Amino acid sequence: MPKSYKFFQAIAILFTLIISWFTWQIPSAFAAAEPETSLRALAEKRGILIGAAVDMKALKSDPKYGEVLAREFNAILPENAMKLILLHPERDRYNFTDTDILMEFAKSHQMQVHGHPLIWHYAIPQWLESGNFTREQFIEILHDYIKTVVTRYRGQIKVWYVVNESINRDGSLEDSIWLRKIGPEYIDLAYRWVHELDPEARLFYNEYSAEEVGQKADAVYQLLQGLIQRGVPIHGVGLQMHKDVDWSSAPQLIENMKKLAALGLDLSITEMDIYIKEGFGNQQQALEKQAQIYGDTLQACLSIPQCVYFSIWGFSDRYTWASSWRGSQGAPLIFDEQYRPKPAYYAMQEVLSR
Ligand code: XIL
Repeated sequence: MPKSYKFFQAIAILFTLIISWFTWQIPSAFAAAEPETSLRALAEKRGILIGAAVDMKALKSDPKYGEVLAREFNAILPENAMKLILLHPERDRYNFTDTDILMEFAKSHQMQVHGHPLIWHYAIPQWLESGNFTREQFIEILHDYIKTVVTRYRGQIKVWYVVNESINRDGSLEDSIWLRKIGPEYIDLAYRWVHELDPEARLFYNEYSAEEVGQKADAVYQLLQGLIQRGVPIHGVGLQMHKDVDWSSAPQLIENMKKLAALGLDLSITEMDIYIKEGFGNQQQALEKQAQIYGDTLQACLSIPQCVYFSIWGFSDRYTWASSWRGSQGAPLIFDEQYRPKPAYYAMQEVLSR
């Protein structure tokens, strides 16, 4: 064997050894540093629910996802699994596979499941969108749907987000298929039916961009006030909290929550994520500002006795809807893509420990 060949062979072996050492080291170098306590343990000490929206694909395929979810949270919402298009994809077919998996997961980890959403303007299946149904048929379809879903999980789902996002930014009613086909009374009907089917369940309304005072918050207030005045069973309101990292309206959020609580309603933060926009300072500054917003919002919730539930829209930057919604991921959550806690996570721990 020529000398030069032996030399190259030795180099190749050395190279392979170095590469395999690195490959072996990388996962441990990036392994999630596990916090000393969990959000869940701290929340339970204070008697509150801390939750996350669950991505079913991640839960089914990524063991670490389920592990962190069960360790850190005592309540969950399905991110998509309960949307009409997935639960009732064809007129004569329901698909409860994922929702049942979620219920089982929650049961085996002693977590509450909150139903989200029953009625929404989005995620409407084709058969409903293009079926030429009369108003009476539409009412019947809505009733059947609510009956099927609520009855199936009666006693297991203690909180229902019955109507989701029925109001536009300018305060007008969202032009949903429900509004067009049934009229504004679809909202009253939905709450009344859910209550009849499961009188024990707490029924919430859920809305985006109603955290700050203004036109939209006023419209939400009026809607809820109207429901209460008409004797419609409604028990709470969820504010989503999808915000950017330059958000600075915590005092308005508190003012708004107090106003809603004065209506006799419970409150929740339902879908919190804080998107890091490109160009917002350096990474450290962005993470610190993000942490401050998470901390302030949790503190706002804790400062109002009626705020019973605080939920994030996911928990790891590995899985966030922001990539599809905003075109870039924006690292909006409290664990990074390797499940390492971010400053936002520790800000929440600090607030829960106060
Ligand atoms: C979003 C999901 O996160 C996405 O995966 C899906 O493609 C669209 O819906 N308000 C809501 C949630 O009430 O249900 C939405 O969830 C996000 C905005």
